[in-house]
Amino acid sequence: MKFNGKEIMMKSIENLFKNNRKWSEDITKKNPDFFSTLSKQQAPKYLWIGCADSRVPANEVVGLLPGELFVHRNVANVVVHSDLNCLSVMQYAIEVLKVEHVIVCGHYGCGGVIAALHDNRYGLIDNWLRHVKDVRERHGHHISLLKDQKQKEDCLCELNAIEQAINVCQTTIVQDAWLRGQNLNVHACIYGLQDGVLKDLGMSVSGLEEMNSNYLNALALEGIGVKDFTRLPRIVH
Ligand code: CO
Repeated sequence: MKFNGKEIMMKSIENLFKNNRKWSEDITKKNPDFFSTLSKQQAPKYLWIGCADSRVPANEVVGLLPGELFVHRNVANVVVHSDLNCLSVMQYAIEVLKVEHVIVCGHYGCGGVIAALHDNRYGLIDNWLRHVKDVRERHGHHISLLKDQKQKEDCLCELNAIEQAINVCQTTIVQDAWLRGQNLNVHACIYGLQDGVLKDLGMSVSGLEEMNSNYLNALALEGIGVKDFTRLPRIVH
């Protein structure tokens, strides 16, 4: 039998449709109203900003069901102030859905972070990873003191999550929410591919007044003192 291109493609993802039917049936068996209730509204408490890496599935990692986690993922969990995609997700999550927590989650062994650390070239994506190289350069002195490559990679994975979380804190969206008195907490954490364990990086910011001190605390946990860098987070108002 001769397949045209479309049929071949459908055939190759047939197993995904099968998986989907089973997943839908399993959930409906446990809770017959699950999908009908969920289809009417979503009220997640958390916004997850994570890496696009296939090994870090947001909901599974934190044991949350559909409807419980609003998610934005990109290569190396980068938060850039001109990225309308990420900003739109944040604005909708914070101002409309009123999530209470924004979690920036990095992961060890992140291909994007490692490429940025070693200046590996992959094409267009090198431009995106420029933002991670900015983190590398900001903390270049500290990273250069680390002995082996693995330590440097792990360190930059952690620092990238901290810096991207502080970028979240520096958006007008988050700072406006704090000025309105909205309950909103920004966290940085990191996920281990080797053991599936999520680690808190010691940065949970609940308001403008906590931004600088919590950033400094998180960097202190990395062994980075105030003398090692010159930039503190900025309040945009
Ligand atoms: Co990654």
